[in-house]
Amino acid sequence: MSDNTELEAHLAEQDSFDPPASFVEQANVSDPGIYEEFEQNWPDCWERAADLLDWNEPYDQVLDDSDPPFYEWFTGGELNASANCIDRHLDERGDEVAIEWIGEPVDEANRTYTYRDLYEEVNEFAAALRELGVGEDDVVTMYMPMIPELPIAMLACARIGAPHSVVFAGFSAEALATRMESADSEYLVTCDGYYRRGDPLDHLGKANEGLDSVGHDVESVVVDRLGDDGFDHGLSDSQHDYDELVDEQAGTEVDPVSRDAEDMLFLMYTSGTTGQPKGVKHTTGGYLSWVTWTSRAVLDVKPEDTYFCPADIGWITGHSYIVYGPLALGTTTMMYEGTPDYPERDRMWEIVDEYDATQFYTAPTAIRAFMKWGAEYPERHDLSSLRLLGTVGEPINPRAWKWYYKHVGDEACPIVDTWWQTETGGMMVTGLPGVSTMKPGSAGKPLPGVDARVVNMDGDPVEGGQAGYLTVNRPWPGMLRTLYKNDERFVEEYWATYSDTDSTDSEDWVYFPEDGAKIDDDGYITVLGRVDDVVNVSGHRLGTMEIESAIVGVEGVAEAAVVGGEHDVKGEAVYAYVILEDGYDGTEEMREEIVEGVEDAIGPIARPEAVVFTPELPKTRSGKIMRRLLEDIANDEELGDTSTLRNPDVVEDIRVTVQD
Ligand code: WTA
Repeated sequence: MSDNTELEAHLAEQDSFDPPASFVEQANVSDPGIYEEFEQNWPDCWERAADLLDWNEPYDQVLDDSDPPFYEWFTGGELNASANCIDRHLDERGDEVAIEWIGEPVDEANRTYTYRDLYEEVNEFAAALRELGVGEDDVVTMYMPMIPELPIAMLACARIGAPHSVVFAGFSAEALATRMESADSEYLVTCDGYYRRGDPLDHLGKANEGLDSVGHDVESVVVDRLGDDGFDHGLSDSQHDYDELVDEQAGTEVDPVSRDAEDMLFLMYTSGTTGQPKGVKHTTGGYLSWVTWTSRAVLDVKPEDTYFCPADIGWITGHSYIVYGPLALGTTTMMYEGTPDYPERDRMWEIVDEYDATQFYTAPTAIRAFMKWGAEYPERHDLSSLRLLGTVGEPINPRAWKWYYKHVGDEACPIVDTWWQTETGGMMVTGLPGVSTMKPGSAGKPLPGVDARVVNMDGDPVEGGQAGYLTVNRPWPGMLRTLYKNDERFVEEYWATYSDTDSTDSEDWVYFPEDGAKIDDDGYITVLGRVDDVVNVSGHRLGTMEIESAIVGVEGVAEAAVVGGEHDVKGEAVYAYVILEDGYDGTEEMREEIVEGVEDAIGPIARPEAVVFTPELPKTRSGKIMRRLLEDIANDEELGDTSTLRNPDVVEDIRVTVQD
């Protein structure tokens, strides 16, 4: 055996890894006593997070838990998120890079914003938004790809106290319209288009189509991203050119509005168990403290770093860990417009090498793709600037973890596997890289001060080695405050399962993230995945109900059931089982119409991997579709219990169809 194979074999067997001494020495957090200290001092321990920010008015109380689950954090305090992410760094770091943007066409479009540049443009755009009529608490929607004007618009909104609601650019026109309607949002910031693999893509056409189905008037701002490559839409009277607005405000400064800690910073729509996306509300004080603290403690961000998270700002990871956390700490945050395999499969490593990136934080789906492409791509580059690696969004299998550790981190970088969700605002269960032993495949223990447990159906903790449901048994500053204009659904979805909802004692309230998990004897938690009707495709949350209603909207479809099936790279893929109306056949054409229907309603990301036409769906006697069986079929597994089925034969029939 060569040395290398011996090493590989050793790595394959190893199931725990200590953080490298060189990392621990310089880590922002390296004292293991922090767990006990936070426990003893809860909830005041969270002053440590709030103290990372500049407050205009100091808070009176760390936690107000008098009306659970409507918790309030840092009450009485006032601050501004944009001032915390920009203004306060100007004196010392005004000429340092805030945003390093890597755009397309490759090597031509890159832009660098120092903190001073960012200050100027955010102020000018904030002034422009005001001029357009945006007032405090007006929700401004952003429908933009990964271009610098997106974080600029977010920070401009934060500056004038207008909450933003960012809609992922890959979502459809219809998805945009639903979210704008739901948020009563009368302002939109978008762009003409963007580049994918070297080609210009039309975005404004899609935005316009969305605007057509919004029932109220909307003023929009359009960024000219494509220049001469642009599509010929023109701008209507209610559409304004971004550059013109900003130029008109050249040099204007806007005082950051002092916001109450509990004032809304933004809304983010996410998928849930019903067809209607939920507007998750995050606040200024609690959220910003949480993402700043976790960026510092978990991602080990320091001002002199060049931090790289190639996620999309259209999802929560980009909000918390490209924009707010890193900028609040005054570091250099990178933004990447393109895809990881264009122009070549070494694109990520080329960027890390060229910019000397110090952290790299991505989703397991990307790591599985890198692994499939092969180690030769990272090997082409010098990745020694990297100090820490991270993952987020889905479970990572130990093999992918070890590949990442060896081939990207050169066995010298700790990996943080971070469990959290849109609703938690920031990381909840993950190791502290300067303290914790890592176990590949497991997110680790809850962060200091976080009381996450794995429980059975009665809410009692399961024993080490057992699986159950993940719960969070104490509030935390970054938590969602409510679902926008829907307190009832907020209580119902997240709290009712494990709480005594009649109680006003905070100890009787338990947050349920709707994830299954297991815990080992050392208290390490492995999150297994959603237990509600949500699929996780490439780390993106999609509601099966949303996809089903899109399919049922296609002419000729009588009924549809959507489940997640395992997928090598994406983690999960969408499987659609479809019953057609009489007179319609399961032709290739029909299949295409269904796929298109889903793309139109949600976006290409929800595109079904398989569409299976079937005369019936497995149902219980009470008529409920047995999704679990459909999942077994999708995964080609032994079928679970079929005894409660009204129509047991149908399952075998469907299975035969799938195998064909
Ligand atoms: C899943 C993304 C396993 C989980 C930040 C959660 C994970 C959902 C992990 C949230 C992880 C996230 N290990 N599963 N480290 N991180 N998940 O709201 O099912 O887009 O509930 O937030 O992703 O997805 P969301």
